[in-house]
Amino acid sequence: MKIIVKENDIEGGAAAFKIFEKGIKNGAKVLGLATGSTPVTLYQNWVKSDLNCDNLTSINLDEYVGLKPDNPQSYHYFMQKHLFDKKPFKKSYVPDGLEATKDPQAAADHYNQIIKDNPIDIQLLGIGRNGHIAFNEPGSSFDTVTREVKLTDNTIKANSRFFDNIDEVPKSAICMGIANIMSAKKVVLMAFGKNKAHAIKEMIEGPVTEQVPASILQKHLDVVVIIDKAAASELDDKYKK
Ligand code: PGA
Repeated sequence: MKIIVKENDIEGGAAAFKIFEKGIKNGAKVLGLATGSTPVTLYQNWVKSDLNCDNLTSINLDEYVGLKPDNPQSYHYFMQKHLFDKKPFKKSYVPDGLEATKDPQAAADHYNQIIKDNPIDIQLLGIGRNGHIAFNEPGSSFDTVTREVKLTDNTIKANSRFFDNIDEVPKSAICMGIANIMSAKKVVLMAFGKNKAHAIKEMIEGPVTEQVPASILQKHLDVVVIIDKAAASELDDKYKK
């Protein structure tokens, strides 16, 4: 893993954007994208850049089951607002939260086929405080592909900050699996803030275990981790150069 420690999320977002820009200039065409607070500074750099996205395809990690694309809490809406309204891609895929209400398995199968037909060149990830990647929570098998996942109480609580009240947070999501993520040619994982420091340490220094889903990235051949000093604060010094 290549580890880049920056002062804060502003510098981290700029560093992440440079990696995507370089990858795209070198031929990357399919990008796996992510939502959440972490990638916001990356997308800010992206929208103010002159990067042409007309030939790019994006495949997002996940979507809540039951939310319409125009629901402001949906990940579809998040992507429109933070990136695609200003930088439309040739084609952008986000799991269909409504199709998933009727038939989650069909929605998941459909998404796995999309990933198969569009192999991901660069996959963007955040990380949860418990080491989750997307909604792949501790205990998820490393073999998982896109499926419906029940959200844990902790994740529901963490995500309730975006909703008027906790009862409005959907109870499940359609989420790319760990095997889908590992199939990307390159992975860029971003994390900022002290509350991610322990998960970052476990991901990088700990054993590879399904109890820390992100630890599987130790086995991927091309991973760049972009963190700020706070997220790096529990790491052994040898990783902080
Ligand atoms: P965050 O979420 O970017 O909002 O911190 C990341 C995650 O939980 O995967």
